[in-house]
Amino acid sequence: MSESETITIRPRAPSDAPVLIQILANVHNLTGYPVDGPTSFPARFQSSKAFTSLVALYKGDLAGHVELQDPSALPSTVVKSLASHAPMSSFAALVSLFVDPKIQGKGIGARLIDEALTWGRVEGKRLVLVVLDKDTAAIRMYEKLGWERGVEYIHENFEGISYRAFSYLSPV
Ligand SMILES: CC(C)(COP(=O)(O)OP(=O)(O)OC[C@H]1O[C@@H](n2cnc3c(N)ncnc32)[C@H](O)[C@@H]1OP(=O)(O)O)[C@@H](O)C(=O)NCCC(=O)NCCS
Repeated sequence: MSESETITIRPRAPSDAPVLIQILANVHNLTGYPVDGPTSFPARFQSSKAFTSLVALYKGDLAGHVELQDPSALPSTVVKSLASHAPMSSFAALVSLFVDPKIQGKGIGARLIDEALTWGRVEGKRLVLVVLDKDTAAIRMYEKLGWERGVEYIHENFEGISYRAFSYLSPV
């Protein structure tokens, strides 16, 4: 079986939350992502406002996650820049993308992005995401996959620490 055949994608189920929280805790311990810290984790997997929430399974086990949301909740600098190009209804925000650190580098992140892009094509929405300058693995991946850097802004986390951040738009 090839590596790509061992990866499957399905909609997130409410019962996935405990395992996703544990995987995200492992990601956070290693990379500091997300900078809003563990208290923010449970709410990430309960969002009823998401357009769609997907999980990746690797050899049958939960391995990663991505969600698409209304882009109007993005930082105001990003929203203003998007709105100057096209109606906000033509965008979707890609958020909460992460892969279990034990099995990164096997194409799981790319598959999740691919499924998100397919959803965007079907819905007629271009994807937009925000990433902190410090998350270099993610930035390298987006640039390798052809995403375009948009605007720069400062993200302040719950402790008031400031991070340089960028928006990226999916390839057209
Ligand atoms: C970013 C992340 C989701 C990538 O997941 P992954 O499953 O390891 O990524 P993939 O194996 O699908 O790699 C996809 C492409 O990006 C490249 N890539 C991934 N990580 C990379 C790294 N650290 N350095 C350079 N390139 C990298 C891969 O080479 C691959 O390209 P290829 O197919 O041409 O070889 C994962 O590293 C992660 O969970 N990081 C922590 C959380 C995070 O930063 N999330 C994003 C916040 S905006």
